[in-house]
Amino acid sequence: MDLESRDLISMNDLSREEIDEILDKVPEVRNHPHKRLLCKDKVAALLFFEPSTRTRTSFEVAMRNLGGIVGGFYDANITSVVKEESLWDTVKMHDGYGFHIMVIRHPLKGAARLAAEAAQVPVINAGDGPNQHPTQTLLDLYSIRETQGKIDGITIAMVGDLANGRTVHSLTEALLKYESCNLIFISPRDLSMPRFLIDKCKKATAGTGVSFSEGSRIEDYISEVDILYMTRIQKERLKERTAAEKFRSIYRLEAAMLKDAKPHMKVMHPLPRVTEIAQDVDSTPYAYYFQQARNGLFVRETLLALILGAIK
Ligand code: NCD
Repeated sequence: MDLESRDLISMNDLSREEIDEILDKVPEVRNHPHKRLLCKDKVAALLFFEPSTRTRTSFEVAMRNLGGIVGGFYDANITSVVKEESLWDTVKMHDGYGFHIMVIRHPLKGAARLAAEAAQVPVINAGDGPNQHPTQTLLDLYSIRETQGKIDGITIAMVGDLANGRTVHSLTEALLKYESCNLIFISPRDLSMPRFLIDKCKKATAGTGVSFSEGSRIEDYISEVDILYMTRIQKERLKERTAAEKFRSIYRLEAAMLKDAKPHMKVMHPLPRVTEIAQDVDSTPYAYYFQQARNGLFVRETLLALILGAIK
């Protein structure tokens, strides 16, 4: 596989074979005997126009573990963005400073694609508004494969704000590349999966044998799923802030609700969680969200090593 110098903006930039190959490479990079030499002296620009905890920190630690360093900013409010500098110019500037790769998070859909057009160096999308979050999806797929032994044929329920959550949009696009997955979308009607993705699911039923359904109650599906993928209400993307409070009370997973779950079932969440998973779930064997977040470090190390050409 040759990922060297390529942008990663959307899950649709990768074929199923490429996704599998990236996931296969993770143990090699994680346990590489000369890990700290892989990206020695390489510099990544982390351009974060939106808040982040896991994505930013794991990219930063990943780069350090590979022997590289990071620059950039984590708060656009202390940059010339407040002086109305355009995204295009901000990216062009960083391109001129000799960074080897850029990782960008931005509130607007399409921002990462625009950045990739402005930059000479490869760009990784770390989340563009409600659109895509491909590195999250790769770590989600890694975690699914790790816990279920496969991705083909899994039954997964995605729960919460399916209208505005980029993690579920990316994950849906990716799972459509696999065989016979059963996707269950659980949300309040006002926060349902965008129609264009439902249409893609419909088209895929004939091709990869995917099946999908839309529902509104978690309880109806817990006993049949392999993965219960919880998400938070994307308060910052809702027009009315009060709506967030209303929707928040609808889904709350508690340990007692998991009594009929399959033994290998895992609860995943891209995090941060707010109220949608009660803390008593953490001590059940089903909770997987913290391991999932940790996998993000290993998957991002692998992506950086591949895109920076340190491994093939
Ligand atoms: C997600 C995101 O930023 O989209 N967080 C993350 O990267 N782990 C999920 C979210 O913010 O709800």
